Amino acid sequence: MDIFEKVISNKGPLGLYADQGYGYFYFPKLEGQISNKMIFRGKECIVWSLNNYLGLANHPEVREADTKGAADWGMGYPMGARMMSGQTEYHLELERQLAEFESKESAYLLNYGYMGMVSIIDSLLDRHDVVVYDSESHACILDGLRLHMGKRFVYPHNDMVSFEKQLGRAKKLTDETGGGILVITEGVYGMAGDLGNLKGILAFKDQYNFRLLVDDAHGFGTMGPNGKGTSEHQQVMDKVDMYFGTFAKAMAGIGAFVASDKQIIKSLTFKMRSQIYAKSLPMPMVVGAMKRLELIRTRPELREKLWTIVKALQSGLKENGFDIGNTASPVTPVFLKGGVGEATQMVQDMRENHGLFCSIVIYPVVPKGVIMLRLIPTAIHTPEDVKYTIDTFKLVKQKLVVGEYSTGGVPYVGDEFR
Ligand SMILES: Cc1ncc(COP(=O)(O)O)c(C=O)c1O
Repeated sequence: MDIFEKVISNKGPLGLYADQGYGYFYFPKLEGQISNKMIFRGKECIVWSLNNYLGLANHPEVREADTKGAADWGMGYPMGARMMSGQTEYHLELERQLAEFESKESAYLLNYGYMGMVSIIDSLLDRHDVVVYDSESHACILDGLRLHMGKRFVYPHNDMVSFEKQLGRAKKLTDETGGGILVITEGVYGMAGDLGNLKGILAFKDQYNFRLLVDDAHGFGTMGPNGKGTSEHQQVMDKVDMYFGTFAKAMAGIGAFVASDKQIIKSLTFKMRSQIYAKSLPMPMVVGAMKRLELIRTRPELREKLWTIVKALQSGLKENGFDIGNTASPVTPVFLKGGVGEATQMVQDMRENHGLFCSIVIYPVVPKGVIMLRLIPTAIHTPEDVKYTIDTFKLVKQKLVVGEYSTGGVPYVGDEFR
């Protein structure tokens, strides 16, 4: 069979509705400056889809730092990988600041969170080692595990009974092979907003002798009294062996970092293929990230604003009978009952007639018959945005319940591909 023919006929789970939803449900263009309100297909909408938690994307001091970084250095500098010719004092300084913020000895910059995590996992393990990980782990963790030649044991999401069982299996195996055990969890689970049970996991540490790696993509900057993350929130910063954060969410930038003991970070810098064989993070990203970190450290009011909106949105939804699952973070899922056709019509109604833009998650990401709308409150949303959104949700839920959206299959609302 021709490879191209096969690829075209097998659309993959995310490509299932590509023809109906391109440019609408998939690859929508949000235009105008990043804000609580943006333009979608010519109409202004309140946007609840951006991980711009602290509102830093368009913060004047951030914009100024980004502009100056680009003017001073351009995107080219430094050329080459860190190891060869891409090292700068600025990269090292940002790493020192990140390590200090996370109370770790050292940190290492990553060009992207996704690739960085894949490579961290690859660098830490050999075929004798065993990984124990959560069933709802992000793709970057799962893809890192694809490179792992040894065993991996998965436990159902946050199920500590099963977690211990899997640890037992891992210990039995590593006792035979002489390998070690790596446990991986997320701090905040980005789809449904619930937290990894870091405390619960760590309670088994003495008995099973493992190392804990926490992917805190959504927790860095948002969780904990000082924004240091889910480990600060759960008061276990000193017990997390390796902390991973991305700049793509609360930092509203690009890039990521990993923080741990100095000797471990040193070892990673000589092993991580995502960094050794890739160009160094451009200077505007580095100086821009430093400004963002400074704001996270010195402007607690940004986090307070975020949490005021989070609490208003989540309590308002709950008081009005919406199921928002077990979120304990800003990520706010709203679970409704309905099929894919109803979900798409409902979201279309929200976008076209009510000026509300939120992300929609459907089967196969959630079970059949479940619609998950996912809202990301930020520091730049207003109490009026929250009130309007809850009122609109009440309205569309009513329409969903009485069957107004069950008029057929998935409507054609998208564009031709490109
Ligand atoms: C849990 C988690 N880990 C890692 C990543 C990847 O981060 P980046 O966007 O920096 O590649 C994401 C972002 O989607 C995430 O949600």
